[in-house]
Amino acid sequence: MSRQTFRNKWIWITGASSGIGRALTLEFAKKGSNLIISSRKEKELNVVAHECERHGVEVLVQVLDLANSESIQHAFQTIESKAIEVDVLINNGGMSQRGLVRDTILPVHQQLMQVNYLGAVELTGLVLPGMIKRQKGHIVGVSSIVGKFGFPLRSSYSASKHALKGYLETLYLEENNNGIDVSIVYPGRIQTEISKHAIDGSGNSHQKMDEGLQNGMDVSDCAKKIVRGLEKKRIEIFVGKRELLLLAIRRYTPSIFFKIAKNIKPV
Ligand SMILES: NC(=O)c1ccc[n+]([C@@H]2O[C@H](COP(=O)([O-])OP(=O)(O)OC[C@H]3O[C@@H](n4cnc5c(N)ncnc54)[C@H](OP(=O)(O)O)[C@@H]3O)[C@@H](O)[C@H]2O)c1
Repeated sequence: MSRQTFRNKWIWITGASSGIGRALTLEFAKKGSNLIISSRKEKELNVVAHECERHGVEVLVQVLDLANSESIQHAFQTIESKAIEVDVLINNGGMSQRGLVRDTILPVHQQLMQVNYLGAVELTGLVLPGMIKRQKGHIVGVSSIVGKFGFPLRSSYSASKHALKGYLETLYLEENNNGIDVSIVYPGRIQTEISKHAIDGSGNSHQKMDEGLQNGMDVSDCAKKIVRGLEKKRIEIFVGKRELLLLAIRRYTPSIFFKIAKNIKPV
């Protein structure tokens, strides 16, 4: 399988204002890629853009809200009007959940599906036709290890990440022979503030840092590993530490997985 280089390519990353998206942005800037960076917070995105400057790459800040279709369409039209051909789209933006099923109201389930799944689907649907016309492009989605199994307090988060996996695997099967590469990233625990930004059953911000995340993989190591996987056009990229073992336990000894997971202390 041929390796790709990202020098002078246009990479569009959602969720670039913090965590994995920010680290990926910096990693691609080091590789000489031009970047479109998106999320809701313009001020934070400008800081990230500034951090990339010393690498001499072009960085466009494009605010968008994955929960808002008009905002996604406006972002795409703005990029299209600049005649930029997007080489790689990284659907990384997302939010997590910390709430029991029994306590979670329907709008919270809807919000998680909208931000983590439908937002990515809509942006991909806008970017894909240009890639198909050029017969090249790479669509990436950041799922999660809980996109491979269920996990306490993360019902619709897990569902949205399973959905993203199903959508992207299908896209790969349909379009890889037409020059479109697809990669799905499955992070375990990465040291970001995702748990602080997570929402509870009522839609309020969780605002607590999970202990597990604090001991997770360093975010810049995570970004390096993801970029290496993308260079190799890997369909599946796993990043994390010991928690990745859960994937094998779930697959080969499901009864042991269910015993462990149902007794995990809820946080
Ligand atoms: N950290 C982990 O352990 C872990 C594990 C598995 C999967 N992941 C996945 O990795 C991705 C990045 O998460 P992270 O850990 O880096 O967490 P993070 O620091 O909270 O980053 C989430 C990013 O998504 C953006 N975002 C959230 N809601 C958005 C919306 N409605 N519209 C546009 N952008 C939005 C945020 O930016 P704004 O607030 O500026 O909009 C932020 O840039 C997520 O998809 C997450 O599910 C993370």
